[in-house]
Amino acid sequence: MMEDWQKLYASKLVTADDAVKHIPNGSRVFFGHAANEPPVLVDALVRNYEQFQNLEIVHWVPMGKGEYCQPKMAGHMRHNAMFVGGATRKAVQEGRADYTPFFYHQSTRFFSDGTFPIDVALISVTPPDQHGYVSLGVSVGGTKPAALNAKLVIAQVNDQMPRTMGDSFLHISQLSCCVEASTPLPELGGGVIGATEEAIGRNIAGLVEDGSTLQLGIGTIPDAVLKFLEDKKDLGIHSEMFSDGVVDLYEKGIITGANKTLDKGKMVAAFLMGSKKLYDFVDNHPDVLMKTVDYVNNPAVICQNPKVVAINSCLQVDFNGQVNSESMGAKQFSGIGGQLDYVRGAAMCPDGKAILAMPSTAKHGEVSRIVPVFEPGTTVTTTRTDAHYIVTEYGVANLRGKSLRQRAKLLIEIAHPKFREQLWAAYRERYGGED
Ligand code: COA
Repeated sequence: MMEDWQKLYASKLVTADDAVKHIPNGSRVFFGHAANEPPVLVDALVRNYEQFQNLEIVHWVPMGKGEYCQPKMAGHMRHNAMFVGGATRKAVQEGRADYTPFFYHQSTRFFSDGTFPIDVALISVTPPDQHGYVSLGVSVGGTKPAALNAKLVIAQVNDQMPRTMGDSFLHISQLSCCVEASTPLPELGGGVIGATEEAIGRNIAGLVEDGSTLQLGIGTIPDAVLKFLEDKKDLGIHSEMFSDGVVDLYEKGIITGANKTLDKGKMVAAFLMGSKKLYDFVDNHPDVLMKTVDYVNNPAVICQNPKVVAINSCLQVDFNGQVNSESMGAKQFSGIGGQLDYVRGAAMCPDGKAILAMPSTAKHGEVSRIVPVFEPGTTVTTTRTDAHYIVTEYGVANLRGKSLRQRAKLLIEIAHPKFREQLWAAYRERYGGED
């Protein structure tokens, strides 16, 4: 058997330029999510762009160069983002690329039921183990379902990809062709945790009880929270993603997963994004369980653990408690990601808490992020009916069970002091007084 898979593997090895020649015109081409993007395959696609007509390039968080978004790619390839990031934002905002919203946990179904079929998957994997299995490493959640549903799967076999446990594995017989290339994984530089983020972190930490199961979203704030959890006990992780901060708390014995009822003792995630320290930590780590998004991000699964605390960032909140986490007016800035999956999962957990946090101001203090109404075209990521805790550096507003009038008051109380008078004026105009 051993010899069989080795022969099979050898027969699938090609160069990157030869591998991309197999991609038919008009294909929807999926890139491995976040740090799973295979740079050598993407570079070959971009280098040979004139060979192709009408490719649709789809992926979530971009961590590569985004060169397929250049104006000269028109007619050859066009990006359709499932999440927008720095490398792709300009193209989406200028109309040269698209954005398609869907719940992350439903993507598995959409890849297989004809809603959003995948023709080709370009993925990164570890070298095969002694049984002929490769691991998808740091990104399994949506990458594995896309690979399983694609007609053509091209893999960059990268010996720098950590081998993670869980649903991470594909057999080499499931790969169409392989390109061996050793490249470092992209690292996510942690944002600067300043006084504002620290105050937000402290406010959120006050809501986290011993034995909670945490989900941590994207951005500086989730990292800031972890700094203030050092006096907690037996925290667990069931999270779409996690980053370096979790490693420190695990090593200090604060994250044990001992109170979890589902995957007890394991840190469950769909993908990982951080520094080399994180990537080294998860390599062959038996307590890190990588799973697909129909499980990790499914609200009906999320709610099964005790004391679920979902911690995510947002850009703006209006007086009613509508939350925008993904647009600047009508311009797409990021994406829904797993935000609502976790807000709803936490809401379905009897002692769960959904926390959405942001600094009280943006643009170097020039604008309030708490506003009476959104600008036309603004996306509502989390509806007012879903909103639970809103946190800024000035405090915590628990909107659940509160009237629209009460919500506006609670939100003004956590707005930046320099904007409160103008917010109260808007409140009086809407509700006739300050009571
Ligand atoms: N008006 C104008 N500009 C604003 C603004 C507003 N209301 N709110 C934010 N900005 C600006 C900021 O000033 C900042 O600009 P800078 O980079 O020049 O300083 C920029 O927009 C980014 O804002 P910031 O709050 O620093 O973003 P972040 O990196 O912390 O990310 C989200 C926050 C909300 C974009 C990000 O968490 C996200 O995409 N969330 C949705 C998906 C999600 O929650 N997934 C969770 C599961 S993993």
